[in-house]
Amino acid sequence: MKRIGVLVSGGGTNLQSIIDAVSQGKVAAEIGVVVSNKPGAYALERAALHHIPSRVVDHRQYQSVMEFTRAILEIMKENKIDLICLAGFLRILDRLLVDAYPNRILNIHPALLPAFGGKGMYGHHVHEAVIVSGAKFSGATVHLVTAETDVGPIVVQDTVAVDDADTPESLAAKVLQVEHRVYPQAIRLVLEDRIIIDGLRVKLKPGSH
Ligand code: GRF
Repeated sequence: MKRIGVLVSGGGTNLQSIIDAVSQGKVAAEIGVVVSNKPGAYALERAALHHIPSRVVDHRQYQSVMEFTRAILEIMKENKIDLICLAGFLRILDRLLVDAYPNRILNIHPALLPAFGGKGMYGHHVHEAVIVSGAKFSGATVHLVTAETDVGPIVVQDTVAVDDADTPESLAAKVLQVEHRVYPQAIRLVLEDRIIIDGLRVKLKPGSH
């Protein structure tokens, strides 16, 4: 059975969608460990409710991003994790993790990358920028994690309309629903080895639709 490690920082609604997909048999895997950089993150409560082991690796306790990342990597190895899912995880990680888990780390971004990604583009800021830009659609992106932030082969995306009456909050809520739908889909494709990576492009293996 493949084992998933989930990195969280906050409320954990994306973690919850992965937990639900696993328990509904939509993802043939088990969540081996949840790691939060924030003590007390509600995501840790969600893990506990589902008897999933969790650890706190508080980035403030480490001298460098490298040491912070090494601590997380150790936990992933200890727990025999096959796929790492960043789910509302807000810290930058050292490429140490990417080197140890090549094409085996996923992240979810609350916009249609490559647009509205990169530095400063997280949480509320993303949705504000989308609305101000006049874009008629936004959405969510699940991508493989490479050494750069918010740039990696895109596995799954889906869209929502940006309505005239939308505020950053209302748009965030709509995008979050998309996130919860596309993350389990992306996890399945990767764990079932149904994708071919061609540069930044992710193509489905024939017969994989
Ligand atoms: C949300 O803004 C979501 O769009 C992004 O991270 C934030 C928290 O997600 N992926 P979660 O509820 O902690 O999964």
